Amino acid sequence: MREKKIIAPSILSADFARLGEEVKAVQAAGADWLHVDVMDGMYVPNISIGPLVVEALRRVTDMPLDVHLMIQDPDRYLDDFIRAGSDYIVVHAEAAMHLQRTVSYIRQKGCKAGVSLNPATPLSHLEYVFPDVDLVLVMSVNPGFGGQSFIPQMMDKVSDLRAILDSFDREILLEVDGGVKVDNIADIARAGADAFVAGSAVFGSKNYAETIAAMRRNLGETPP
Ligand code: DX5
Ligand code: ZN
Repeated sequence: MREKKIIAPSILSADFARLGEEVKAVQAAGADWLHVDVMDGMYVPNISIGPLVVEALRRVTDMPLDVHLMIQDPDRYLDDFIRAGSDYIVVHAEAAMHLQRTVSYIRQKGCKAGVSLNPATPLSHLEYVFPDVDLVLVMSVNPGFGGQSFIPQMMDKVSDLRAILDSFDREILLEVDGGVKVDNIADIARAGADAFVAGSAVFGSKNYAETIAAMRRNLGETPP
């Protein structure tokens, strides 16, 4: 498990009319990665943003872009998101017809490949693709919207996944997305998460730096 945890604010809860400023503000506030939620209105009920916005974000920040594709049949858009400057491309296991091919393609093109699982999808779904991924994203809410509550039984899923990932001799990051707050981040870390997506907890707060610092303190890290 990674010592220094990764905090990845999700721009879904940012002010889209001032997106560039918002991104610079969370970076200055101490964020490690930027989490970008892409929704197609098919795989999830909501519609958000596409590759053009990722390309624009790439121009305003050097933070790693963690691009979470909540889209049906993601293969159709991989090249666009790769070209746009994504660092991590995370697809949903349930949405990819040939998951192993999809993650291999992402890596072959020089990006890091991630797979996300909905709350109801078992870890066994990934048994034969672990060797081909750099990150596993545990959804702790049903995808589609920011501001939902963490589903408590996802804590067991995180610890079960931690045990599996520890059995590999290379690093596969464990990221948790949905309902992550200042007051539950320590428990999620104890269960074994390396990376934390936080949308409403960060962008819904008055002072981004204070919120991120509070998260780091609860993670047992000293904020800079
Ligand atoms: C949900 C998205 C999340 C969302 C998290 O479908 O994948 O990344 O922005 O928002 P919060 O942190 O508010 O639960
Ligand atoms: Zn997300």
